[in-house]
Amino acid sequence: MAEDEKRAEDYRIDPWGTAVRIEYEKLFHYFGVKPFSELLPRVRQVFGEPLHLMRRGVIFGHRDYEKILDAYERGERVALVTGFMPSGKFHFGHKMVADQIIYYQRLGFEIFVVIADAEAYAVRKLDRKKVIEIGLYEYVANLIALGLEKNKHTHIYFQTNYETPYYRLIQMFSRKVTMAEMEAIYGKIEPSKVIAALTQAADILHPQLEHFGGFKHVVVPVGADQDPHLRLTRDIADRFEHELGLARPASTYHRFQTGLDGNKMSSSRPDYTIFLTDPPEVAVRKLKRALTGGRATVEEQRRLGGVPEKCTIYEFYVYHLIQDDRELARIYEDCRSGRLLCGEDKKYAAELLAKFLEEHQRRLEKAKDRVLDYVEPPPF
Ligand code: TRP
Repeated sequence: MAEDEKRAEDYRIDPWGTAVRIEYEKLFHYFGVKPFSELLPRVRQVFGEPLHLMRRGVIFGHRDYEKILDAYERGERVALVTGFMPSGKFHFGHKMVADQIIYYQRLGFEIFVVIADAEAYAVRKLDRKKVIEIGLYEYVANLIALGLEKNKHTHIYFQTNYETPYYRLIQMFSRKVTMAEMEAIYGKIEPSKVIAALTQAADILHPQLEHFGGFKHVVVPVGADQDPHLRLTRDIADRFEHELGLARPASTYHRFQTGLDGNKMSSSRPDYTIFLTDPPEVAVRKLKRALTGGRATVEEQRRLGGVPEKCTIYEFYVYHLIQDDRELARIYEDCRSGRLLCGEDKKYAAELLAKFLEEHQRRLEKAKDRVLDYVEPPPF
């Protein structure tokens, strides 16, 4: 098929796929996602300093984010909704979502964090006990250790253990979606996925209900693979505008962190993924083997310079390890010019990583005792 004949259906994104490689530009071209970079000046004006992930283009796309800026500026109520599938250990890819949750919490957003245990059970077919355990002691504990505060505007819940009106939404939503549109969005889909998708729509829309405090503007920060759920949810919101007063959510999309071998970062690829519970020496060992943008020989690298754009270590700096933009720019230049070689650079990254993990893991031990203050786990 010629490129210009292709339509959105030919670029279907599978939010449950394990090997998705998303071509981010397609999201702009076929699905109407807008570049986030255009909004940065307004973000700075309205929120103050943008999150590093915003400044550096890691958060690259959005839908309707202007509405969130407008609402915040006018002093209207704003909330964040996002979620985690508790299917494996918490890694640095998940930390990006945590950083965003905490950023918005500090701005005064109401926070809804969903532990998608129903989805993990039904779609991923994981054991209930395991999923609950991981939800509490990996996801909730790491969020607390990273700085999520407990306050009356912060709600963490398991999909299987929440309040009645939330479930009522899932049941009501089922009336106004067809199999044809589900298949257009998700491809061939079985009941578990239909329910997971409607449940996610309820996750995103329920904060607007009277029972949950009444109307508020909602933003959903997620990885780009979740956009199909947002398209469905926006359509559902339109169909329930009159009946329930629901409005479309805004959303932002971030790039995925690359695994240390240059492929996907995922719990199922532990050698190429750094977990926030990895002992520092284990994490450092993984990092020392990571793919860089280095050349074949030292001589060549001195002459041609390295390629930070292809380097998983540089990406680690951008996403996590370096806060100061000037320091980051310095490393970029030193690499490009051939002054900084990979060995020396990895040593520096390893120091930053080990220091982060040591401090984080001290907080994590204390956080584990507090998870039940934040969330009530399902009884079975
Ligand atoms: N489906 C998401 C995932 O795979 C988890 C999730 C469930 C979610 N409900 C949500 C994410 C609502 C954002 C908003 O990780």
